[in-house]
Amino acid sequence: MTASPASPTSSGLALPIDDEELAARLNARLDVVEKALYAHIQSEADFVTEAARHLMEAGGKRFRPLLVLLAAEAGDRADSDDVITAACVVELTHLASLYHDDVMDEADMRRGTESAHSRWDNLVAILTGDWLFSRSSELTADLGADAVRIQAQTFTRLVEGQILETVKPAEGADPLEHYLRVVAGKTGSLIATSALYGARFGGASREVEEALAAYAEIVGIAFQLSDDILDIGSDSDESGKTPGTDLREGVPTLPVLMAQRSTDPADARLLELLGSDLTDDARHAETLALLRKHPAMAEARAYVIARAAEAKALLAALPEGGVRQALEAFADVVATRTA
Ligand code: IPE
Ligand code: IPE
Ligand code: MG
Ligand code: MG
Repeated sequence: MTASPASPTSSGLALPIDDEELAARLNARLDVVEKALYAHIQSEADFVTEAARHLMEAGGKRFRPLLVLLAAEAGDRADSDDVITAACVVELTHLASLYHDDVMDEADMRRGTESAHSRWDNLVAILTGDWLFSRSSELTADLGADAVRIQAQTFTRLVEGQILETVKPAEGADPLEHYLRVVAGKTGSLIATSALYGARFGGASREVEEALAAYAEIVGIAFQLSDDILDIGSDSDESGKTPGTDLREGVPTLPVLMAQRSTDPADARLLELLGSDLTDDARHAETLALLRKHPAMAEARAYVIARAAEAKALLAALPEGGVRQALEAFADVVATRTA
């Protein structure tokens, strides 16, 4: 049976879910999360509330809270309040990381609007990110000491990933391996924790919790790699971000690393450009155009689809049914997303 695709998310990442009851439940729970998120970012200082609401109101896919809710469905307490709290924790942590990320990437657009440092300045962006992270930590305390430890370890991995992105791989190390380590840290970690929290607070068995966390770590990596492909392939109307930001910042992402392996003489100009400073507008535009039509784009897409298949295989630990189907669809959407 295939029902019409349900859309539990408010924007880009519509998820085709066969089980209509499940889709309706997720939609209703996402609404609860949304309201709770706004309540959590209310400060006594009006300006702090305004700065924190800036990116919250701008939208976003709420991909991590959705994964918390979905993973919780694998247990027998999916409707517990702790699941909602966990969903807020991961979205607030994510939001905090976006405020910081746009400063480090000098990105002027986020979620289709001005990034916080463009709207105000670096100081406001960094301190609002810190404030959001503190709110998220405070909330995690309601989930107990183990959740606090997991949250801290997750943020450690995320920040390590962000730091490692700014340093070159060690002499003789494989740049692709280095990059995949960065991606697992900066993005895989929080997405893995989203599934782990969902499974744990939803009352799933330890075996299912471990399988879902492993599945989500790979889905998170695939999500970031899809994002990297979109950074080159899409325009800002689709992504809500400025295309080519990674190139401009000199971050060699998956399609670039794959193109750089080429020995085809026809790629000489592209390789020369990729080895140079791309902050110059004309060189940047030329590189983006060459990359967009390069076979490395298809190679990168195929790699992401293979990783998603690897993630889906881990779902064998769950019984067949609506929840497993939705998690499979989740991995597929991530691998082929266009926004
Ligand atoms: C952006 O994450 C940062 C990455 C890890 C690629 P999302 O693509 O989930 O951003 P929003 O929340 O939908 O804006
Ligand atoms: C995503 O960073 C990781 C975090 C925000 C922790 P990116 O720089 O790759 O993502 P976008 O493209 O700005 O969303
Ligand atoms: Mg960025
Ligand atoms: Mg970044």
